Amino acid sequence: PETGCLSIIVLGASGDLAKKKTFPALFNLFRQGFLQSNEVHIFGYARTKMSDDALRDRIREYLTPNKGTSSEQAEALSKFLQLIKYVSGSYDSEEGFRLLDKEISEHEFAKNSQPGTSRRLFYLALPPSVYPSVCKMIRSYCMNQSHLSGWTRIVVEKPFGKDLSSAEELSSQLGELFDEEQLYRIDHYLGKELVQNLLVLRFANRFFLPLWNRDNIDNIQIVFREDFGTEGRGGYFDEYGIIRDIIQNHLMQVLCLVAMEKPVSLKPEHIRDEKVKVLQSVLPIGQEEVVLGQYDGYKDDPTVPDGSNTPTFATVILRIHNERWEGVPFILKAGKALNSRKAEIRVQFKDVPGDIYKCKKQGRNEFVIRLQPLEAMYMKLTVKKPGLEMSTIQSELDLSYRQRYQGVTIPEAYERLILDTIRGDQQHFVRRDELKAAWEIFTPLLHKIDDGELKPIPYKPGSRGPAEADELLAKAGYVQTHGY
Ligand code: BG6
Repeated sequence: PETGCLSIIVLGASGDLAKKKTFPALFNLFRQGFLQSNEVHIFGYARTKMSDDALRDRIREYLTPNKGTSSEQAEALSKFLQLIKYVSGSYDSEEGFRLLDKEISEHEFAKNSQPGTSRRLFYLALPPSVYPSVCKMIRSYCMNQSHLSGWTRIVVEKPFGKDLSSAEELSSQLGELFDEEQLYRIDHYLGKELVQNLLVLRFANRFFLPLWNRDNIDNIQIVFREDFGTEGRGGYFDEYGIIRDIIQNHLMQVLCLVAMEKPVSLKPEHIRDEKVKVLQSVLPIGQEEVVLGQYDGYKDDPTVPDGSNTPTFATVILRIHNERWEGVPFILKAGKALNSRKAEIRVQFKDVPGDIYKCKKQGRNEFVIRLQPLEAMYMKLTVKKPGLEMSTIQSELDLSYRQRYQGVTIPEAYERLILDTIRGDQQHFVRRDELKAAWEIFTPLLHKIDDGELKPIPYKPGSRGPAEADELLAKAGYVQTHGY
């Protein structure tokens, strides 16, 4: 139900993720009226001993809403902070979780007009190493006892393991404690506006239906770039690397939505069934279709080991073995410390057959979906150059969100995903079999990198990454268009 008492419990309340993402998202939901003061209570749980006010002070500076006058903001902020209570305890302590349960129950008792409809959302803003013990504790001491229509839901974040076997182990541990319907595995890319737009675009527009296949599309790129390095989190990053951090999850989720068949309906299970099929159709990655890089200076971070072989950049070509995509390379590219910050999908079409305008000189038709920054979709196409001469140029049909939807605030991915969790919509969360299939694709490559069999090529911070990656792109058929 969407009514009744709601307790949101943020475990790891004093950590980075909670401060930077979880609490700000909750605050924005509160400000927009999605969390009602008379129903909701928020609990922070962590090891540090501190008062409710101390937690409120810690998170206050991160709560900067994107709209509203300052007096409204101040009022909303103080009301929101009053909803937060802090409980301290360790992540494997029976006592801590019993206390947490007591606090939640008291709140439920005080606020529940309809007994039996309480809702408990546990948000694990914690390192995955403690997921099993925390989940055990929740299961043993903090389960919602509501017998009518209440629920208990658990939100977890990547990394879900480091390879196929560790991910499967984690999945079984959690699977023994909770049903799949209770587990919400966040991949925050699925909460981004233009990622959520992908299925609408593909399946609600006649334009795309007949073109979206191997007969018309030459290659597809899914690109993530950041113009900063791993500053401050080199230790974490070094254990994972760019493939585990970005490609295996964020970019693969995008790939699924770009490549999947039309689902039977918009039911979350129907959509996720189609995504799994795409993952299962990906062929083993060929070593010759991979370029790895590591930016100069990465190892200067004291938390990164001297001899680190961890890639901070990777271009990987995936091949989908099915009727729609046979022969179309999906080029996945991600890198840190590059020349720009951008995430985009570039669908490049084949050349026009029997070309009489020599369009090829100017570049191909390309459909670009820019996920961030400045969300946009644009189509590169050839038009007659305006004027008396008959010549052609490449131009763009451009839908820039900031211009077209002025005044509309695009929600943060986390806001949307937390709201989905409250509503019980698992469409934008990763199902266990999706996770497994994605790990199956990358595990052999990751093991080769871990064993030092494959080495990253050094590149300059602020560059495009190793030149070899551009060569691989060209070999895969990508044609650089002019004006880009
Ligand atoms: C996270 C990665 O999942 O996504 C980070 O761990 C990365 O390394 C971040 O910086 C990027 O997210 P966004 O939303 O800024 O593109």
